[in-house]
Amino acid sequence: MRIIVTKNYEEMSRKAANLIAAQVMMKPDSVLGLATGSSPIGAYKLLVEGYKKGDLDFSDITSINLDEYVGLPADHNQSYAYFMRENLFNHVNIKMENVFLPNGMESDETKECERYDEVIRSHGPIDLQLLGLGENGHIGFNEPDSFFADGTHKVSLTESTINANSRLFNSIDEVPTFAYSMGVGSIMRAKQILLIASGKKKADALCKALFGPVTPEVPASALQFHHDVTIIADEAAYALIAKR
Ligand code: GLP
Repeated sequence: MRIIVTKNYEEMSRKAANLIAAQVMMKPDSVLGLATGSSPIGAYKLLVEGYKKGDLDFSDITSINLDEYVGLPADHNQSYAYFMRENLFNHVNIKMENVFLPNGMESDETKECERYDEVIRSHGPIDLQLLGLGENGHIGFNEPDSFFADGTHKVSLTESTINANSRLFNSIDEVPTFAYSMGVGSIMRAKQILLIASGKKKADALCKALFGPVTPEVPASALQFHHDVTIIADEAAYALIAKR
């Protein structure tokens, strides 16, 4: 596991964007596992700049996103499909037929989970999986649990996640309570993993994930068993580790 500590969010974003850009340049038909949330926004912005300058070409890239809220249509401004279009897809030359997310409007959970696992199987393996980190140690929407989920599953979101994500909705009552998420197993099958974390709210989860026991109670702790993980964390997120 490589750990890169940066001064702040901007430097974290720059370094993360550089690693993703290198992947896109070195393997133009890469399969990227992409993430949503505040953490990757800065990196996506820099990738868009790289594309606009003519340094990056996404025309053969496939992207498979981690998760989606159940019950939000793709055009809802808080859906992850909308987030990805706004922050990346609409601004680069990725082909929309090569872009995959769970369908939050599919009410048949078994059907949707099987469909998404087949997407991952048929297009994978994922070359580079980008991850944020939940304040409770979640990755994707794999919440603390008594086991590590292997494939795509429907998750009942925890109070802590609903609270953390409510900042993006008009009121907490609008935050969906369920999501579809890629499993920890699928994440672990990616060839390379890049986890980014910024801010003191992530410090406890990051410390437990990297140096605590490997347990499904801290889903990100599974990464300790992956052979090619890079963590880019800013000083605030790294603070508790630095103090150990
Ligand atoms: C959400 C997403 C995760 C994300 C996490 C952290 O719940 N499902 O994929 O990594 O929250 O989000 P943020 O980067 O906004 O702190």
